[in-house]
Parts: sequence; C-alpha cells; structure tokens
Amino acid sequence: MGTEHGTPQDSRRDRGVFRTKTVEQSIEDTEEPEHALKKTLSVLDLTVFGVGVVIGTGIFVLTGKIAKEQAGPAVALAFVVAGVVCALAALCYAEFASTVPVAGSAYTFSYASLGEFPAWIIGWDLVLELALGCAVVAVGWSGYIRSLLDTAGTQLPDALSGTHDGKFGFDLLACVLVLVLTGILVLGVKLSSRVTAAIVAIKVTVVLLVVVAGAFFLTGSNYEPFIPPSRPNEGSSGLEATLSQLIFGFTPSNFGVMGIFAAAAVVFFAFIGFDIVATAAEETRNPQRDVPRGILGSLAICTILYVAVSIVVTGMQKYTELSTDAPLADAFKELGHPFYAGIISFGAAVGLTSVCMILLLGQSRVFFAMSRDGLLPQFFSRVHPKFGTPYRSTVLLGGIVAVVAGFTSIDELAELVNIGTLFAFVVVAIGVVILRRSRPDLPRAFRTPLVPLVPLLSVLASLWLMLNLPAETWLRFAVWMVVGFAVYFVYGRSHSRLGMRTRANRKG
Ligand code: ALA
Repeated sequence: MGTEHGTPQDSRRDRGVFRTKTVEQSIEDTEEPEHALKKTLSVLDLTVFGVGVVIGTGIFVLTGKIAKEQAGPAVALAFVVAGVVCALAALCYAEFASTVPVAGSAYTFSYASLGEFPAWIIGWDLVLELALGCAVVAVGWSGYIRSLLDTAGTQLPDALSGTHDGKFGFDLLACVLVLVLTGILVLGVKLSSRVTAAIVAIKVTVVLLVVVAGAFFLTGSNYEPFIPPSRPNEGSSGLEATLSQLIFGFTPSNFGVMGIFAAAAVVFFAFIGFDIVATAAEETRNPQRDVPRGILGSLAICTILYVAVSIVVTGMQKYTELSTDAPLADAFKELGHPFYAGIISFGAAVGLTSVCMILLLGQSRVFFAMSRDGLLPQFFSRVHPKFGTPYRSTVLLGGIVAVVAGFTSIDELAELVNIGTLFAFVVVAIGVVILRRSRPDLPRAFRTPLVPLVPLLSVLASLWLMLNLPAETWLRFAVWMVVGFAVYFVYGRSHSRLGMRTRANRKG
C-alpha cells in the first residue's frame, strides 16, 4: 500500500479531507482482480477514441449558431482561441496521465496531488461534463435523424420529437440511442472501440468532404467584415450577460473582438473529449508512452479540421444566413447541392453516435474510480466477471442520461458542460505543479514543458474562458457543486477507503 512507500511526504498525507492517495496506491488498486479493467488499447485506439469524441455537435451544430449570433466569420478565430486553451490543458493532462495511469482522469490525478476533497469535487464536476455532454449530443443526434427521416418523407409525432419552442415532447430517439450505447459498453471496451473506429472514419471523411467540396463554392464578399462590429445585446437579462461583462461593467454585446472570446467559450464544447483519452489510461497497454500521444494527436487533428471547416462554411454562405440546426449540410442545400447535404447529414448523425458513446464510457469510468475509492458506494465498482467492464456504473449512469436526454431541453446545458470542463482544467494544471513538488521522484514519461509557466498559463486561459460564459451558467454550476459538497460530507468522507486505511493504521 502507498503508506508503505516511505517518502518524506508520508507524514503529511493524513490531512483529513485533504488526505492524498499515493500514486503507487492508485496503481495497486487497479491490480486487485475484482476491480481490474482489461488492458487492451493501443495508441491508435486512443487517438481514434479522442477524435471520435471530440468531433461532434460542436462543429456540426454550434459553428453556424455561433457565427450567426456571436462572431461572424471570426468563428474560425474563436476555434483557435479555444484550441489554444485546450492545448495548454492537454500538456498538463498528458503529464498527469502518464504519471498516474489509472481510470478516472482528472479525478485520479487530483487524488494523488491535491487531496481527497478536491478530488471529489473534480469527480463530481466530471460527471457533469460527461453525463450532460452525452445528453446534449444525444439530443443533437436525434435532431439530425429527424431531419433525415423528414427528407425520406416520414415524421415522428410531435410528442416523441423532443421539446421545441417551450412545448414539451419526449425525445424518444435520444433516449433509445443512449440505452443502446449503454448495452454496447457493458459488452466490452474492445467491441466499443471497433465500432468507434468505423464511425470515426465516416465522420472524418464527411468533415473533409465539407472542406474540399465547399472550397469550390467560396465567395470572397462573405468574409466581409471578418470581425463584425460589436452590437449591444438588447433584450437579454442581466444573468444572460457573460460574467466578464458584468464584472468589468461592459454593456452586454455580441460580435466585435470580445464576441470572439464569448464565442470561444461556447465553441469550446467542440473540443471536449480529448481529456477523456486520459480516462482510458488504465485500459491502455503502454500508458506512459501512448496516452500523451493519443491526447495531443487527437487535439491537433481536430483543431486543424475545425478551423478549416469554419473558414469554408462562412465563405460558402453569409454568416447572417447560416442555419443554426444543420449549418454544414444546409450551406450545400442553399447552394443547390442537396446530394452533398444528404451525405453530410448522414455522416453527422453517425458521427454523433460515437461522441455519445465515448462520453458515456468516460463518465462510467470516473464513477467507477470514485466508487472503488469508497467515495460512492463500492457496489458500483465490481467489474463484470465475463466482460471485464464496470457494468454497474455503466448501467446506472446510462439509465440516468437516457432519462435526461429524453425529458430535457438542453440548449444552455452545453454552457454548463463547458464551465465544468474548464474548472477541471484549472485543477489539473495546479495539480501538475503540486505533484512535481511533492513527488519529484515519480517517473514521468511525458513532462509538461516550462513548469510552472505552462500550467499557470493554462489556469489563466481556462479562467478567462469561464469568465466569458453567462452569469446564469455560473449560478447553475454553483448549485451542482453545493449538492456535491453535501454528498461528500454525508457519505464519501466516512466511507473513503483511504480514510479507513488511515484510521486502521493509526489504531495499529
Ligand atoms: N466535442 C464534442 C462535441 O462537439 C463533445 O460534440
């Protein structure tokens, strides 16, 4: 056990809710037979995983909406800003993931560096990112399928087509998608990653099709003005203004240079997922080498594709004319190419399936890790005797996400997902610096360059994007975190395995 590894820091580990789990202890826990996941993934699997989850609703849906409402053609710059924030975070994630290669991503990293309570907060926060993100994408997927059905001349009844314009409808397709994916995940990671590989190939082909075919239909005047002048955002209540506008006393506005940052805080959703590659570290054959490569590789591929797609799509159609539901397909439709539009809609619908699946996978692994540590009931951390998957946490969370996706109208929830993710970035960057100081001896296959400068820049960049989210998003985030505090102090603190070990050691 970690407490047997004599390091000068041992005396500091029993710090109540700030007690830390040693890295050795985290790795040993994964080797207990009834809690062990199969190690089957390679660097290619991880990169496919990354690209599979990253390219989704962000590029297929949000590009048009954000270009039209917040940034104009400069949405490409918003993608660059968000990409830079993610690259800084990725450099920190990569060091952590290669040092602490166990399931649970930022949660596990924080347990080893910041202590149990901060780790709990992060785990709780990741559930928000992953579960809600999965629900958002499932609803986006259902929209694309309905649009394909519509083209084929069939329609679902309104009551089963989700909530629109304030009128409630159960989103049958979104709910069914989540349930089917839950079943696939219970059957095993290897199966899921094979399915994912096929889907990712279709998705990337469709994105490249948009870039290559779209390049023949560009009109120079559509790029003017590239950064539309700032426009006051009338009619929005105080809480809809971004926190930075409220703090600095600016009039809430769209477009202009500040609009690019507000846009970046939303299109950030398009990058969510590269961090999930780190959650699969424990199932990777050579995590020290492959996880950093998987994370940075998938991030680089996606950033290039996003910038290319947004430049092409805003060149095909004036930003004021872009559709907000299916902007990539509709731009082709508008220019008289319904065939391309059909292929793109099909590819988007297929592609969103893999995003949903990997988000579901990520959250069940975080939940699994928290349960294995006793912060949530340990019932959820038994792996399936035959499939070697954490089936109990997968089924529980899959069921909850299916209900949320079926019953909730989730426009603003994408912003809530973003704030949760950015918060996790902040904690991971701080964790890198702390772990360098507290455990300089640990082998690190990947080292973040220029520590502490890069982690510091990562913290500042993530905080800046957070400030560019609406005040109401901050409020919702605060409520979720307060509930998390309550769960920890009522259950987790007293059931923590680390806490029990510490108490037993003290008695012994
Ligand atoms: N990055 C993922 C998407 O855009 C979550 O759908």
